[in-house]
Amino acid sequence: MCGIMGYVGPQQAGPILIDGLRRLEYRGYDSSGIAVGNGTIRVQKAEGKIKNLEALLAEDPPTGSIGIGHTRWATHGAPTDANAHPHADPSGEFVVVHNGIIENFQDIKDELAALGAEFASETDSELLAHLVAREYDGDLAEAVRKTVALSQGAYAMVVMSTREPDTIIAVRKISPLVIGLGDGETFLASDIPAILHHTRDFLVIEDDELVIVTADGATIETISGEPVDREPIHIDWDAAQSEKGGYEHFMLKEINEQPDVITETLRGRLNADGTVGLEGLEFDDDYIAGLDRVWITACGTAYNAGLIGQEIFRRVLRLPANVEYAHELRDADPIIGPKELLIAISQSGETADTLAAARIAPDHGARMLAITNVVGSTLSRYADDILYTRAGPEISVASTKAYMAMLIAQYLLALRIGAARGTVDEAHARAVALGLHQLPRAVREVLSRESEVLAAAERIVDADDVYFIGRGLDYAIALEGSLKLKELSYLHSEAMPAGELKHGTLALITDGVPVIVLLTQRHVYNKTISAVQEVKARGGEILAVAYDTDTEIEKYSDTVMRIPDMNDLLAPVAAVVPLQLLAYHVARMRGHDIDQPRNLAKSVTVE
Ligand code: M6R
Repeated sequence: MCGIMGYVGPQQAGPILIDGLRRLEYRGYDSSGIAVGNGTIRVQKAEGKIKNLEALLAEDPPTGSIGIGHTRWATHGAPTDANAHPHADPSGEFVVVHNGIIENFQDIKDELAALGAEFASETDSELLAHLVAREYDGDLAEAVRKTVALSQGAYAMVVMSTREPDTIIAVRKISPLVIGLGDGETFLASDIPAILHHTRDFLVIEDDELVIVTADGATIETISGEPVDREPIHIDWDAAQSEKGGYEHFMLKEINEQPDVITETLRGRLNADGTVGLEGLEFDDDYIAGLDRVWITACGTAYNAGLIGQEIFRRVLRLPANVEYAHELRDADPIIGPKELLIAISQSGETADTLAAARIAPDHGARMLAITNVVGSTLSRYADDILYTRAGPEISVASTKAYMAMLIAQYLLALRIGAARGTVDEAHARAVALGLHQLPRAVREVLSRESEVLAAAERIVDADDVYFIGRGLDYAIALEGSLKLKELSYLHSEAMPAGELKHGTLALITDGVPVIVLLTQRHVYNKTISAVQEVKARGGEILAVAYDTDTEIEKYSDTVMRIPDMNDLLAPVAAVVPLQLLAYHVARMRGHDIDQPRNLAKSVTVE
């Protein structure tokens, strides 16, 4: 995700901007740049790591005490020097950095092009500089306001201009933005850690607010121009904590980011009527209608996400689908034909096993669709079609928010395929769209119930073995819950379909053995309850994940982690959250290294 920096004060802006961008590196980026003002505005930018930008600055240092900077995570256009931010209008007098997506960028671009505009980049962000310049009539804040009114989407934008050389204007529409208040100097950044070593006093900008920043401080207004009175907050975190946004670990931060990740992955792609527009998918409806089968391949958590896709493609779309571990598929000599689509899922896009399996598609004349979080990753370069998950950089080795984004991406893909094949009617698509849009709120609700998870964690922290059971989509979630628990807590855990328990594993269920049961699939509820009774009859302990309205489970369970009632097809999104938190808390209670569990790597680039 992009990072933004800004500075106005008595010092040279260049080194402060670079230092801040370095501290935002953890967000992930593929190019960077700064603009420094000194009567005119000098823009310097470079593809790749910040050291490339630093090399440019070392040769030709900028001078000036006002400036803005940016690290870019490519969305529109490849990671190149030209597409890096800042972007200027053709006169060079109005310069913009931007974090987020302008959804109506094509309409704006067509309109500007019709008036003769020429563009120096492929980005949506450059259009903002053109618009601010066009709308400027002696008041930079007003020009920015008018630009915002013309631009749909969620973003943060920061603008400077030679016309008002002592002022920076910034706007927040969902993407984060904070102002650091110094003594005769003011800082601006995407998050607090970037500038915490300069000041501990911050103004946190809210959605739909505009802020006028000078060396003397900042004035906040609503986007429609109403004054906003906000007290600065004082930050007491230390530097290490602050990088984690105040959370103790990246994993906890990333679990808590999931409502925003859902919003981000849906943004601009899902209409209220259930139709979807997925940039990056090159195939047409005829291709989809002619598909005989979908293969999904991945490893680890991404495989578990693929199981959700498999169930939805089969059960809802009535489309044959097989999910296979990538390391198995690549050597299985699978029978794949040109009328089959291979979907490779990978957070990093660099997992060697998944890359190897993905290469099977072209060998068999099939298309390969990548679902990945990393723009420009190797998997995305191999792919015929790409669906980016937009989870932002995931630092914790244990995957949480990236998994969440993989689920959302697959729901979107299912809506697209279902519409083209006529297997999802309009009413169903509309209901799913509504449900998807309500998910961020539902996940926030689950996150607010952490005390239920802590009670469950206390029960299993000293266990030797933990079992997870569920049916259908619940089984897929059971697998992910089990993987998270073993990965972080080093407890032995196993997940199985609830119906399988009686075929062998029941032998291991004795007094006090914890069994975590998922109960979100109403059509198989009673059957899952039968497995619960088998466990209870042997003295096992039941820890349940169940809907708020499920009173039946209280008869059998020792503790329940509740999720709000929702469409069963979407329930995995909410049901996985208590299990992520459970793994986190058990690992914390056992004193483990949560963000770097033993023997694991974030990106497994060996086969
Ligand atoms: O980057 P990828 O999604 O391809 O990674 C696949 C697995 O290595 C990964 O999901 C792993 O299982 C995680 N550590 C799980 O938390």
